Amino acid sequence: MSKRLILNASEVLTCSGFGPKFGEDMMDIGRIEKGAVIIEDGLIKKVGVQKELLKDINIEDYEIIDAKGNTVMPGFVDSHTHFVFGGYRAEEFSWRLRGDNYMDIMKRGGGIVSSVKSTRESTLEELVARGAKRLDSMVKFGVTTVEGKSGYGLDLDTEIRQLEAMKILKERKDIDIATTFLGPHAVEKQYKGKEDEFIDYQINEVLPVVVEKGLAEFADIFCEDNVFNVEQSRRFLQAAKDAGMKLKIHADEIVQLGGAELAAELGATSADHLLQASDKGIEAMAEKGVISTLLPCTAFLLKEEYARGRYMIDNGCAVALATDLNPGSCFTNSIPLLISLSSLYMDMRIEEVITAITINGAAAVSRADSVGSIDEGKKADIIILDFPSYHFLPYHAGVNIVKTVIKSGEIVAQ
Ligand code: NIG
Ligand code: FE
Repeated sequence: MSKRLILNASEVLTCSGFGPKFGEDMMDIGRIEKGAVIIEDGLIKKVGVQKELLKDINIEDYEIIDAKGNTVMPGFVDSHTHFVFGGYRAEEFSWRLRGDNYMDIMKRGGGIVSSVKSTRESTLEELVARGAKRLDSMVKFGVTTVEGKSGYGLDLDTEIRQLEAMKILKERKDIDIATTFLGPHAVEKQYKGKEDEFIDYQINEVLPVVVEKGLAEFADIFCEDNVFNVEQSRRFLQAAKDAGMKLKIHADEIVQLGGAELAAELGATSADHLLQASDKGIEAMAEKGVISTLLPCTAFLLKEEYARGRYMIDNGCAVALATDLNPGSCFTNSIPLLISLSSLYMDMRIEEVITAITINGAAAVSRADSVGSIDEGKKADIIILDFPSYHFLPYHAGVNIVKTVIKSGEIVAQ
């Protein structure tokens, strides 16, 4: 049996919980001054005040991880990314700097379909190799669980190849991966005006294979003006739900279509982006317990308005924060950037930000029972910061202050 002890923390934030935290409960990060954590066989055995914990154990039985007077907290959960893709779109970013906008680039055949072309041309091995590099970078930022989407295939073969790449990476890498099938992510030229046919194709040809092979836990769609409308989104998501999948939705990002309302109607696990979500949609999500996953790095890089994080929390929503790493709208997996933007521009308190990237992120990938907090019985996914207080997270802006990353009780980055 492996036994480890994290000692000498200035504070342990437990972020304790086994489900999402809503509204004002997001302030509760379970701070224990001079805390310690006992880990056994990769799981959290006990957490509490060090002085108390040490009374009941024989310290010689344990391997010591010395936090050296710094903050100990749960590993981050990045609950919305598109980390498996071929090619890059660096030139597109420069077009945007020149004044082009994201949707116009998409309308003239660039954007997502350009990544689709590169992804179709990539072999499974290439997708795995590039995905592995991106995961390594995430781990250094303290991410111990990540969600990854398909959606750069659109056709059966490539959608499956993307999902298979994630399956391989799950085995190989020291990070948990939740997988999402995002077949209806964009409309290729030949389907322009025939979006219903494309939805039929996804429902009848692609979804059944994804389900049969057990390659994805969630289904997702880009519900947006000029992409898929609410009715098409409802049809696809309902079919996925009937096939036993949990739901996510790219909702109300650029235009207010009613994606948040649809997420509430279908009982989705989360609705994501939500820059333009209506008051009614926000109210419905809070009522139905749909997690609002906000992606401020995307708003920043597209120079869009930020989602109304403060309003959502004040109106009882459970907010999660994620990077949205992808080759187009948001080529970053920076947790420090995510923390800065959400605290400064969505008016979230640092405690709420921490909840949003730990236990609420875990809930957004249906893993609040096993990760996202330092609670007895959960996986020992823990990070140690380079500073003695969580207040350094927004204060030391843009800098990665995660020093040690522990995944299932093992040190995976230091
Ligand atoms: O979440 N909004 C749609 N999908 C991605 C962007 C994908 C891309 O630009 O390649 C997003 O931002
Ligand atoms: Fe996305």
